[in-house]
Amino acid sequence: MAKQIIKIDVKAVKADITKLKVDVAAVGIFSDVKPTAFLKKLDALLGGAITRLKKIGDFKASAGSSVFLYTHGEIAAERLLLVGLGEKKKKAPDTVRQAASKAAFEAVNVNAKTLAIFRHNETKIDSRQLGQVIAESIHFGGYRYDEFVTRRENGRTNSLSALIVDSDMANVRKMNEGIKIGQIVGRAQNFARTLCNRPGSILYPAQLAAEARKIAASVKGLSCTILDEKKLAQKKMGGILAVGKGAANKPRMIILKYSPGGGKKSDSPIALVGKAITFDTGGISLKHSADMHEMKYDMTGGAAVLMAMQVAAKLKLPVEVYGIICAAENKPDGGSCLPGDIITTFSGRTVEVLNTDAEGRLVLSDGLEQARRLKCKTVIDLATLTGACVVALGKHKAGLFSNDDKLAKKLQTAAKDSSEAVWQLPYEQEYIDEIKGKIADLKNIGSKWGGVCTGAAFLGEFAKGLTWAHLDIAPKMDASEPMKKYAESGSIGFGVRLLTSFLFNEVF
Ligand code: BES
Ligand code: ZN
Ligand code: ZN
Repeated sequence: MAKQIIKIDVKAVKADITKLKVDVAAVGIFSDVKPTAFLKKLDALLGGAITRLKKIGDFKASAGSSVFLYTHGEIAAERLLLVGLGEKKKKAPDTVRQAASKAAFEAVNVNAKTLAIFRHNETKIDSRQLGQVIAESIHFGGYRYDEFVTRRENGRTNSLSALIVDSDMANVRKMNEGIKIGQIVGRAQNFARTLCNRPGSILYPAQLAAEARKIAASVKGLSCTILDEKKLAQKKMGGILAVGKGAANKPRMIILKYSPGGGKKSDSPIALVGKAITFDTGGISLKHSADMHEMKYDMTGGAAVLMAMQVAAKLKLPVEVYGIICAAENKPDGGSCLPGDIITTFSGRTVEVLNTDAEGRLVLSDGLEQARRLKCKTVIDLATLTGACVVALGKHKAGLFSNDDKLAKKLQTAAKDSSEAVWQLPYEQEYIDEIKGKIADLKNIGSKWGGVCTGAAFLGEFAKGLTWAHLDIAPKMDASEPMKKYAESGSIGFGVRLLTSFLFNEVF
């Protein structure tokens, strides 16, 4: 495997962007705002090129659009990238994120090694926060996944050094504080993407466990315990074992613990529980072959948990957190779990497996029970659980369920702060009734309808007495069409920013 990750670095500087010798200088433009003094100056330097471009209608500054202008020494940069911000009055909370991602995305497309992004003075966001947001977004847009590409016709840059340019030194200082955090989060999110983008036969449960071990060893305060198939059997983790039974690559439960320094012990640590099906064929209830390859992303929840744990440790957050990752490969084979089988989960509750493709809830049942035994009171699980969630919400938002309104609110706030959108759906009795069993305690599927809600209801049965939330992140397992305009297709590492914001808000 070639080393193909683009090394990205971000810092804020006080400078005049027109005098910076960079490969790309990027400037954001609103479609409905008269040119600012800076834009007028830039336009004049370029002999009116921006005005002409607008006049002929090639660049309307709509959100998500961009255009390169090639300079000839009028400004120091090789290229000027105009990035459309859309209408100022419609400014979405993630306008800045999309624009900064777009700048990095386009810069990498032309193999730039250096990028300068102009900070608008009208951007009223606090500079520290803005630094974090822009840094995260540069990492997001600059990311590429091509570790298996051996020949590149046009070469490809292997580093991107990005500057955020402001004329005020106090702003620059504050931005650099935020950038420190943003780089940690951005890199973590990108590694989550890489783990998910790796093919199923390369990144199987034991490999994910090895990656988790490496991450835990490289940062202070993080420990890692791996339960292999023997330990899982000893502990009677019947959910995860049933799902992994048919695969040659055996399941693992990965338990990470982050303890802040100073020996501060919490009597109610938080648990993050992630579904990590490294490949979901559906098992004996085999999926259709079209799009099945996308099921290598069925470990998105687990990757988000792993990388959020790394961020918590790197940022030394003063909160005790467990990360529980339920890793298995769901495959049909002579030894696979059969439709109709009755399994006994770690909690002791029995489940009739009516569809082996509803496997996420089986592995998570053991993960949730593990969180309970670790005395965690607040438990959040993340899972690409149902196609029904994608039907309900499209690819724009993840589903949120909770048995606690306060926790749901906190996650909605974290979603806003991180621009990783969620939408609350019902966790209510009617759905719970659907998964009650006749010949076992529970069934692993409900009726034909509302699959996203019955999936959540099933998990809720294993979270009784806990303050629990479930995020069905199936809609966000890979880039949506609009996102592909400013980010690499494939995994988007959803959940790393959301969980980080949640933990951050818990302590600050
Ligand atoms: N991993 C899938 C859910 C999924 C589907 C995620 C499409 C992203 C895109 C999950 O394990 C699954 O197969 N769920 C079934 C549940 C059903 C059998 C009740 C589904 O959604 O069809
Ligand atoms: Zn499945
Ligand atoms: Zn699945």
